[in-house]
Amino acid sequence: MYSFSYFTPTQIIFGKDAERQTGALIKEQQCRKVLLHYGGGSAERSGLLNRIRDSLDAEGIAYVQLGGVVPNPRLSLVYEGIELAKREKVDFILAVGGGSVIDSAKAIGYGLANEGDVWDYYEHTRTPERCLPIGVVLTIAAAGSEMSNSSVITKDEGGVKRGCNHNSSRPKFAVMNPELTLTLPDYQTACGCTDILMHTMERYFTNGGNMEVTDSIAEALMRTVIRNAYILRADPQNYEARAEIMWAGSLSHNGLTGCGNDGGDFATHALEHEIGGMFDVAHGAGLAAVWGSWARYVYQDCLPRFERFAVNVMQAEKGSSPEETALRGIEAMEAFYRDIHMPTSFAELGLAPTEDDLKKMAHMCSVGAGGRKGSARVLREADMLAIYRMACH
Ligand code: NZQ
Ligand code: ZN
Repeated sequence: MYSFSYFTPTQIIFGKDAERQTGALIKEQQCRKVLLHYGGGSAERSGLLNRIRDSLDAEGIAYVQLGGVVPNPRLSLVYEGIELAKREKVDFILAVGGGSVIDSAKAIGYGLANEGDVWDYYEHTRTPERCLPIGVVLTIAAAGSEMSNSSVITKDEGGVKRGCNHNSSRPKFAVMNPELTLTLPDYQTACGCTDILMHTMERYFTNGGNMEVTDSIAEALMRTVIRNAYILRADPQNYEARAEIMWAGSLSHNGLTGCGNDGGDFATHALEHEIGGMFDVAHGAGLAAVWGSWARYVYQDCLPRFERFAVNVMQAEKGSSPEETALRGIEAMEAFYRDIHMPTSFAELGLAPTEDDLKKMAHMCSVGAGGRKGSARVLREADMLAIYRMACH
């Protein structure tokens, strides 16, 4: 078991109509002017943004607006947001949306609170010291950015997708009304469930310092997400299931399932970031497309975990050897992905990357990770390329 520091400063306001409290929550932050940041239209169409504006007006809070965040949020809009917010003397950012909007808000927050080019933090040539305070109204359960210290941004030229982790970016509050996710397309719901599972799996499949209480929480989280993903597949309007998934999304990525272990593997995420950067696919779908190949490539180096996962999470029958049991768990997870219409290969994701594409992604992935990534098995560039090749079919 490893020593750890667990820091989750985000106040959660969870339940029906929670967004009506947004104005009052911002007022508590004693800010002068808010940047209202949002995505491509769903929050406008659903009437959510109007309710938020009313809530801000009711508290007499001044704000400026910047919409247009796209999935795999772009650096160019981050720069635009920094300029706008400087001009308008913004001192608080309200992100209304999902991981993409929240991550864009965090990047703008870094840009405003520190000197120099914000992209440096994503290339890891400098570390931010602070971030402007951020509040969140969450509209999709997926990335967990509403409680995480992470932000993932894509540089427009070359599609370079990189993350920056710093505790100063953890939101001050997150308003979480599961009803807001009822308008999600089924595909986005399934992508979200996949990402939530992956955030726990990344921390579960390690060779470092696993802790029983953390493992038990992780297994309960994974079983709960799988069970409720099936409920939502059949009944997307099920509030209870939406609520279970939403809270699981935050708990999967706020650090809870990393307590006591070595911080996790995160190779699948690193592999996906290159796919998302190059082909602009939905993050959850990209993860599902590559996970099975990663798992088959590494499971023998992390056999006890894969065996335990098969039995405790996927409820697979024990095989005649640990390897057989482990493989049953991997197959069961892939079957689950297919059941919720997630891809298990590049082909199912609708991609046909060339050998050159695969080499470029493996190289970028290795460079982005500083040459090595993973805990279940440490991967280098050649391993990454092998996994990408396996994921083609
Ligand atoms: O832009 P709008 O119109 O709002 O549409 C969005 C978007 O197209 C739509 N949507 C969101 N809420 C909706 C809705 N549609 C209908 N009704 C609603 N209530 O859903 C689409 C996806 O939104 P997005 O914010 O991109 O989803 P997600 O939360 O999955 O975020 C993905 C991004 O987060 C990054 C990913 O790499 C990706 O860039 N991640 C961030 C992490 C973090 N900061 O901690 C961790 C993750 O591992 C992940 O890497
Ligand atoms: Zn993720």
